[in-house]
Amino acid sequence: MFKEYFQYKGISFPRLIYSEQGLREVENEFQVRDDDVFNVTYQKSGTVWMLEILSLIHSNGDPSRCRTVPNWDRGPWYETILGLQTARSNQPPRLISSHLPIQLFAKSFFQSKAKVLYTVRNPKDVFVSLYHFAQIFRPYKEPGQLDQFLEQFLEGDVPFGSWFDHVKGWMGLRGHENFFWISYEELQQDLRGSVERICRFLGKQLDARALDGVVENASFQAMKQNKMSNFSLAPRFLLDQTHSSFLRKGIAGDWKNQLTTAQSENFDRVYREQMQGLDLSFPWDET
Ligand code: A3P
Repeated sequence: MFKEYFQYKGISFPRLIYSEQGLREVENEFQVRDDDVFNVTYQKSGTVWMLEILSLIHSNGDPSRCRTVPNWDRGPWYETILGLQTARSNQPPRLISSHLPIQLFAKSFFQSKAKVLYTVRNPKDVFVSLYHFAQIFRPYKEPGQLDQFLEQFLEGDVPFGSWFDHVKGWMGLRGHENFFWISYEELQQDLRGSVERICRFLGKQLDARALDGVVENASFQAMKQNKMSNFSLAPRFLLDQTHSSFLRKGIAGDWKNQLTTAQSENFDRVYREQMQGLDLSFPWDET
């Protein structure tokens, strides 16, 4: 069962923490509430960062809850077997995380007023982050050589499927009033300004002190030191952080240190093919 994947509607999921039954329930039966807030990403795009920001906005910058409750209980990944139970039992207003592509998301969301915040990241950095993560996250298959894993990533032959499909799918909701998107790179460049934008979307007003609290406690350093946010409480059989960390480098542009020129050019070619004709521009388009 370790490192075994199953397919659900053409997308791979690791059997250790997901099940067909759970995914069917999420898609068809999960009751989304109008006051739910969803933290949606393609994996390795800044999910736990946004989770921390949203937790802190909710508590007006007070870090007490972030320091006492593990992030997976504050904003459970509702497509996992355990996360679904937590999401169901959490008190409203609920914060729920998800890596699901839009076509597998809870159908009831589309009839609700619930909000989705979608965080995107330069896919080259997503790839590099995933390459390291796959070496420490036990439910995932060993990624092997970087070159070979890159081919799989570009073909969407990894858990949660293709980055391109995920982003194109979710970004189709642009313009809907309950959909907000932001990039990892914007969070990096201007965390305070990003938090202000997120607050406007959520209809939440924070004073300057509360904003300071969010920005300080959602920093990479603060999160790395917080055992409720750095996954040091995760069982070893799921995550082994001996050789690399979940909160690994926390920078934009690490791909430049990890990909060869040929790998980067190959990536660019597939990116152009996949994203051509879309009226979408991202911070990394200029780099
Ligand atoms: P790296 O592996 O590049 O360091 P996810 O939560 O979607 O799995 O994404 C994990 C990535 O987000 C990791 O990237 C992690 O270090 C980064 N990250 C998490 N919290 C962060 C923060 N506060 N500031 C910057 N990067 C952060």
